[in-house]
Amino acid sequence: MRITVLIHLEKEDAKSYDAVADQVTEGLRQHGHEVSIHGVHGNPRQLIAGVARRKPEVIFNLMEMFGDNLLGASGVAGLLDLLDIPYTGCGPGEYYLQEDKVLTKKLLAFENIKYPDFAVFSQDAGLETGGNLRMPLFVKPLRMDASIGIDGKSLVHNAIDMMKRVVEIHERVHDAALAEEYIDGREFYVGVVGNLEPQAFPPIEMDFSGIPNGPPRILDGKAKRDTNTDE
Ligand SMILES: Nc1ncnc2c1ncn2[C@@H]1O[C@H](COP(=O)(O)OP(=O)(O)OP(=O)(O)O)[C@@H](O)[C@H]1O
Ligand SMILES: [Mg+2]
Repeated sequence: MRITVLIHLEKEDAKSYDAVADQVTEGLRQHGHEVSIHGVHGNPRQLIAGVARRKPEVIFNLMEMFGDNLLGASGVAGLLDLLDIPYTGCGPGEYYLQEDKVLTKKLLAFENIKYPDFAVFSQDAGLETGGNLRMPLFVKPLRMDASIGIDGKSLVHNAIDMMKRVVEIHERVHDAALAEEYIDGREFYVGVVGNLEPQAFPPIEMDFSGIPNGPPRILDGKAKRDTNTDE
């Protein structure tokens, strides 16, 4: 197939892109596909023009944001829907659901799946709480990913520290703050792929044994992105 890998560029004139685009391209080529890469920062016209020029049968969508908008993925998927080109990954609605951690919890609740009790502190609205919270709490941005706004101080043991953290998230991340019960224990990831018949991959366990004793065993922003730290 003729496939275009769509990837986010850090800046409008960036010369390089995230290494994952080459990994995907290589994997697809090994399977005999004709693959091109289209890097876009935040210009919708450029996105559309590049796709029109390459005329892919499928877009391999790696755009998790658009321009500087960390929540731009749903808009990109919506645009691809309008252009009527099939693409990998989820559609605009699914992006919207998965980026809001509380909306996700509410859906899980309907299916009787357990989740940590929580409270949401919006920047401009009243408090929304899901139950009687017990300390310690884990305070994080409501809609971010990649552990943005998550570090050693995310775990709080009293209301004063919780409110300090809430204000920090409002001011630095410009997102609502979610305080949820801290779940101690092992950490597992389960990937799911597919549409009508979703298929779960085997669970992967995060191994925290290399983290020095002391700080909470969490996968914070440093652990995910900063290669120069112990985390
Ligand atoms: N309630 C909690 N109890 C214990 N640890 C938590 C809790 N919430 C988050 N963590 C820790 O913080 C990490 C990041 O949290 P979370 O996955 O919610 O953030 P994210 O930004 O959505 O990350 P991703 O991009 O991987 O989805 C988790 O992997 C876990 O180590
Ligand atoms: Mg997440």
